[in-house]
Amino acid sequence: MTAPLRVALLGCGTVGGAVLRLLDEQAADLAARIGRPVQVAGVAVRRPDRHPEVPADLLTTDAVGLVTRDDVDLVVEVIGGIEPARSLILAAVEAGKSVVSANKALLAEDGVALHAAAAKAGVDLYYEASVAGAIPLLRPLRESLAGDQIRRVVGIVNGTTNYILSRMAETGAGFSEALAEATELGYAEADPTADVDGFDAAAKAAILASLSFHTAVTAADVHREGISAVSATDVARAAEIGCTVKLLAICERVPGEEGDTVAVRVHPAMIPTSHPLAAVGGAFNAVFVEAEAAGQLMFYGQGAGGEPTASAVLGDLVAVARNRVAGAAGAGPTAYAELPARPIAETPTRYHVSLDVADVPGVLATVATAFAEHGVSIATVRQDGHGDAATLVIVTHSAPDAALSSTIAALREVPAVRGVTSVLRVEGLS
Ligand code: HSE
Repeated sequence: MTAPLRVALLGCGTVGGAVLRLLDEQAADLAARIGRPVQVAGVAVRRPDRHPEVPADLLTTDAVGLVTRDDVDLVVEVIGGIEPARSLILAAVEAGKSVVSANKALLAEDGVALHAAAAKAGVDLYYEASVAGAIPLLRPLRESLAGDQIRRVVGIVNGTTNYILSRMAETGAGFSEALAEATELGYAEADPTADVDGFDAAAKAAILASLSFHTAVTAADVHREGISAVSATDVARAAEIGCTVKLLAICERVPGEEGDTVAVRVHPAMIPTSHPLAAVGGAFNAVFVEAEAAGQLMFYGQGAGGEPTASAVLGDLVAVARNRVAGAAGAGPTAYAELPARPIAETPTRYHVSLDVADVPGVLATVATAFAEHGVSIATVRQDGHGDAATLVIVTHSAPDAALSSTIAALREVPAVRGVTSVLRVEGLS
């Protein structure tokens, strides 16, 4: 066997530590699969004293020096965040090293520039671990489905929020109570903002949409709503119509008279319990893909955690190492389609609305008029109770999101409507 391929590891937290351990434990198999052994050249960390598990001669605080060293062939970035990760990846690429990254925030913000730099340098930039942890997803979208037309990708791509929503459904708890439990059990971070407010899912949605629609989509193009406003009432109402509430990342190619557009959004929604995504409980992730020729596909597995994420990192490492052994770089994603981003206001959605009303003549007509005046067609209406405690539950047909939100605003001004108690989008209902 020839000289080893030398890997620089940037960051040694939960994922980096698992990558190091698996590189050691699986060294013989990896060498056989790649055709050359893989050796760790160095590990860049901020505080070497916090890593007694790493041989001291591998640790360095000089990350730039490490990635540009002549004896480094490949770089694995598991630091996360925008800087210094971006500068380090660019330095590595410009120095001719292929890069494996798990950095969703960076790829979602600056993927175009990073890919351009990698293409110019003739090296690989792979990032399977950035979306849905262990689940093989980006390579299937980029390679296996490269001959198909993807129409829609709908995913549960954040385990923290899926755990919280699952517990709300199981126990009837409110959001705050379920979040507190998730934090205590280690499912939610001390600062849960990135997960709970949908930033994490929005970055992943941007990456999924870019690959699916051959179009550069950034996190700024993604409409984002988190789950902190989801109430126990919303979850109970969902159950009443045979649905469950999930935080969905939805990437769609929307046909239009002036050409197709790409609509990418992250928000909580009711989905029927018969939908494959409804069965995804706890902290698991799953992504449902609809393509012209392939039909419906479902990818399911662990979306976070050291070992699952390290599995995806190592898969990429083997791929870029094989390319290096072959003396070539793999094909990167394409963005030739350049489809415009469709604003949420113009994106067709459906709403479920629950209203507390007075059960007196004319109320239903008044409510129906508010929908009609905004061009929104009602699919179903149900009344629960009577007298002062009547509730109207309405599910709409599809309409531009702006028309639906204007209808809700108008309903809040209707005197006979005592309260708008639940408003959630609905996906996957026939
Ligand atoms: N915090 C993410 C989640 C995992 O809860 O799924 C990393 O993206």
